[in-house]
Amino acid sequence: MSPPIFALLFFTLVHLRLGSSALVSLTRGSFLSVERPSDVLVSPTGSFSAGFFPVGENAFTFAIWHGVPVCSGGSCVPVWMVSRGSPVNGERSRLSLTERGNLILTDAGKFIFPVWSLSNGSSKAAKLQLSDTGNLVLVDEGGETLWQSFDFPTDTLLPAQIIQRGTRVISSRSRYNYSEGSYSLHFSDDEVLRLIYNGPTLPVSYWPPPWLPGRFTSKSSRSAVLDSLGHFLSTDTFEFFSSDYGTILPRRLTLDPDGNLRLYSLNTSTRKWSVTWDAFSGMSCFIFGVCGNNSICSYDRTFGRTCSCVPGYERVDPSDWSYGCKPTFQLSHECSRDVGFVKVPYVDFYGNDYSSTSNITFKNCQSMCAGLCSCRGFQYTFDNGNGIYNCYLKTELFNGNNLPSFSGEFFIKVNKSVNFTKDQLQKRTRYNCTGGNKSEELDRKYRQERSSAVIRFMLWLAVAVAGIETVIVSLEGGGDVRHVRLVSWVQQKMRGPMESGWGSVRVEGIVDPTLMGNYDKRKMEALIHVALRCVEVDREMRPTMKEVVEMLLSYDDLS
Ligand SMILES: *[C@@H]1O[C@H](CO)[C@@H](O)[C@H](O)[C@H]1NC(C)=O
Ligand SMILES: *[C@@H]1O[C@H](CO)[C@@H](O)[C@H](O)[C@H]1NC(C)=O
Ligand SMILES: *[C@@H]1O[C@H](CO)[C@@H](O)[C@H](O)[C@H]1NC(C)=O
Ligand SMILES: *[C@@H]1O[C@H](CO)[C@@H](O)[C@H](O)[C@H]1NC(C)=O
Ligand SMILES: *[C@@H]1O[C@H](CO)[C@@H](O)[C@H](O)[C@H]1NC(C)=O
Ligand SMILES: *[C@@H]1O[C@H](CO)[C@@H](O)[C@H](O)[C@H]1NC(C)=O
Ligand SMILES: *[C@@H]1O[C@H](CO)[C@@H](O)[C@H](O)[C@H]1NC(C)=O
Ligand SMILES: *[C@@H]1O[C@H](CO)[C@@H](O)[C@H](O)[C@H]1NC(C)=O
Ligand SMILES: *[C@@H]1O[C@H](CO)[C@@H](O)[C@H](O)[C@H]1NC(C)=O
Repeated sequence: MSPPIFALLFFTLVHLRLGSSALVSLTRGSFLSVERPSDVLVSPTGSFSAGFFPVGENAFTFAIWHGVPVCSGGSCVPVWMVSRGSPVNGERSRLSLTERGNLILTDAGKFIFPVWSLSNGSSKAAKLQLSDTGNLVLVDEGGETLWQSFDFPTDTLLPAQIIQRGTRVISSRSRYNYSEGSYSLHFSDDEVLRLIYNGPTLPVSYWPPPWLPGRFTSKSSRSAVLDSLGHFLSTDTFEFFSSDYGTILPRRLTLDPDGNLRLYSLNTSTRKWSVTWDAFSGMSCFIFGVCGNNSICSYDRTFGRTCSCVPGYERVDPSDWSYGCKPTFQLSHECSRDVGFVKVPYVDFYGNDYSSTSNITFKNCQSMCAGLCSCRGFQYTFDNGNGIYNCYLKTELFNGNNLPSFSGEFFIKVNKSVNFTKDQLQKRTRYNCTGGNKSEELDRKYRQERSSAVIRFMLWLAVAVAGIETVIVSLEGGGDVRHVRLVSWVQQKMRGPMESGWGSVRVEGIVDPTLMGNYDKRKMEALIHVALRCVEVDREMRPTMKEVVEMLLSYDDLS
């Protein structure tokens, strides 16, 4: 890789600002002090810096960031850090390469975190240096690498940094708390690169989501890497191209605190990062636990993702949704049957099913939940296909997702004596089919691929919607059972069985099998929701066929 122009600019900058004081390497028997701002390692062309990085009041970690050694006003984003969960003191803390050849971080001159220590048989470390790829490397006298930061990522992967079996990228707790959060990216035992939610119970894989094509794994290797032009490729056949693919720019692939994996590119003139790819574009409510416990996630193309507490609950930590919500009322531990229920329409809480019962009356379903101490609420849905009602008892109000197409009703157990405000009982609304504001979307231009398959699917969908339209019209006189079935069948498929954490999306079962693997299932899911939300509203409010087609076209942001 030839040194990009921006790097040369930084090189000049570095020399202007720091003269000869910026360090090129740390040699044996020397240290970097937290108290000396100029104690920063700079890569040969100045594209990266490594030094003590403030993470709180009198709290520092040793970190790597893009560009200039001096970070002002929080302009630097750390791409790697040591001791992320336990910052060191702003006085007498050091990163030392000891005389004996060990690399250690000392906190306030007292506590020691070994970064790398000499083991029997290995040669002594001679110096620590930062490469132009952002890799902090410890080498011996012969220049052999003993240790490198690229093997121990925190929440970010840089171009050329290989993620392989055993490597884990772990999100930060929040934007300003860099200790380990709940999400991780790594190769799982089935050799697929996955995003995992590590909650209070069992870890749950939430990406690749069920609506993406299957991945194929090679026998021997597991590795993935982003190249300098913006192409990510994994041995499990997963790949993507950044929206600005083809240009060499500073980039970082970060597992953000909200569980979304995003690729960022740095605009070198404005020094601003922008998203050029993400794993859950427009589907971010499907990230496991994204709004925390006892809450509901809504996604709207205009407003993006919003979280809200379920009625009767309030936020645990107003600055961090991952803590979710807690009840404002008491429910006695004696499990009195004398409880109340609050209805939340168009909301699905997936996972945490205690039981499911078919062909049951509402009264019996409610009574089952009231009598079961661990039941936090229940879902009561009509199975159009069989003409019966089903009852699902839930032990947690987790992964609440406001899906306009979701026809079931959810009832949350509350203390009967609680008075709810109008705001808490506010009806969740279905999306407005005719509205839609394209301009609010994140500026992402994905590489055009498989567009013909998407167009074909959209035609299929338009035909399906046309079918639905006819049906509903013809049911006011005549009636066409086959088409009514189609609607309920699609709804049924989209709802799916509540199992293994997932359950809301079953796109595979709906789409013409000949299209398999040749379309963007995520987009498809969104499109099917569009179709469904349009058949469920009053006829007066339904969009016309022309509007539907326009809407579908507006969803096709491939161009
Ligand atoms: C190094 O070797 C010595 C002597 O064989 C042994 O006592 C010591 O435990 C070894 N240290 C490590 C870190 O393996
Ligand atoms: C950061 O998050 C960790 C883990 O949740 C928590 O223990 C710690 O107190 C937090 N630190 C700050 C400064 O809030
Ligand atoms: C960087 O931002 C400026 C100002 O918004 C814009 O004009 C320029 O095109 C951007 N550069 C790149 C490479 O996106
Ligand atoms: C969710 O909240 C409920 C009620 O506050 C609590 O009993 C439960 O343990 C919480 N679950 C998780 C996963 O935090
Ligand atoms: C409802 O709350 C009141 C006090 O707030 C409490 O005395 C009562 O036991 C609660 N009812 C149930 C069923 O938990
Ligand atoms: C549902 O239950 C009713 C009353 O028990 C029964 O008559 C009906 O056949 C059941 N329907 C199905 C589809 O099982
Ligand atoms: C709830 O509202 C009723 C009627 O407005 C009132 O009598 C009662 O005191 C209220 N309860 C609480 C706990 O505020
Ligand atoms: C839907 O949006 C359109 C355009 O913004 C507006 O005219 C219409 O009243 C809205 N319909 C509903 C039911 O909100
Ligand atoms: C769409 O978004 C733009 C930009 O935010 C705004 O100016 C416009 O009023 C919005 N249109 C509608 C119909 O909401």
